Amino acid sequence: MTKNIVVIPGDGIGKEITTAAVNVLKKIASKYNWQLNFSYYDAGGTAYDKSGVPLPDETLAAAKAADAVLFGAVGGDKWDDVAPALRPEKAILGLRQGLGLYANLRPVKAMETLLEYSPLKPSIIRGTDILIVRELIGGIYFGERCESEEYKGTTRAWDLENYSIPEVERIVALALTTARSRKGRVTSVDKANVLATSRLWRKTAAETAKKYSNVQLDNMYVDNCSMQLAINPTRFDVIVTSNLFGDILSDEAAVLSGSIGLMPSASIGERTSLYEPIHGSAPDIAGKGIANPLGTILSAAMLLRHSFSAEAAAADIEIAVQKALADGYRTADIYSPEFKKADTLQMTQAVIDNIG
Ligand code: IPM
Ligand code: MN
Repeated sequence: MTKNIVVIPGDGIGKEITTAAVNVLKKIASKYNWQLNFSYYDAGGTAYDKSGVPLPDETLAAAKAADAVLFGAVGGDKWDDVAPALRPEKAILGLRQGLGLYANLRPVKAMETLLEYSPLKPSIIRGTDILIVRELIGGIYFGERCESEEYKGTTRAWDLENYSIPEVERIVALALTTARSRKGRVTSVDKANVLATSRLWRKTAAETAKKYSNVQLDNMYVDNCSMQLAINPTRFDVIVTSNLFGDILSDEAAVLSGSIGLMPSASIGERTSLYEPIHGSAPDIAGKGIANPLGTILSAAMLLRHSFSAEAAAADIEIAVQKALADGYRTADIYSPEFKKADTLQMTQAVIDNIG
């Protein structure tokens, strides 16, 4: 197998964590005798500083031509005063839109070795295994907006949320399909008691689910969902929701499992997909070599599974991560004195050593 992977480190700890994941992928390539070609492109504040734009054309073009994209993180207070259209975040939003990445998959699984790091009691978090399917290129993120206008003698701003039936169908269908290989349950999350877009969403979800007789669909309001995640996370299997609700709920869900530093994600589209950890660029620890690389390493496992259909290799990485944790390696974000403190390189090496 020969594949081209575009690596976009981005800002902050992005370089350290993508380097870690690339090294793990290199180990996998040598184990399976594949040729993985890596090429590197700028995005985010780093790209803005160099070229004046957060997403250079060549980065988007390379991503489109790649077999898969591995992304680090973008953003940092350094660029807080940059014009809205040039903010580092525009890089990831532009990639999502440019690649047509309509679905973001964020698995949240409570690991037995890390239960004590969860803010929830072990009795509540144990057994949690949720897949959040977030709509990624529609809704209020991409609707019309106005930064400032005069209105009734004062100034206001607004953002427009809109969803069409095909947009909802596409994401709900993906959630239903994915649920078939899980526990067969999908919870569609909305705010249908208030929002028109949510009422369309709920109706369309019900219509779409009719074609999936073996999957059970239920609906939940987003406020209730955020509460249920905290008091009864094991009740969920697949959650499907809009762009904004998915952004919020996936951060909440991610932290339940112990450390947001461990959470991978896959953004899936019609062709090239993109893989990134769900945490941010952590400018406060950038360059110190102490960032937790596991979220990105696990994103590389998702890359192998979803883009290259390489299930065995994906499982190799996931098992190696479990073993590294079971061997007691802990980066600073999940460290306590009875464990072996590992920096980014040591943690990465521990994973690599566990890939046979
Ligand atoms: C995420 C991030 C992004 C989002 C930001 C960086 C634009 O929070 O991937 O969840 O809001 O989608
Ligand atoms: Mn987010």
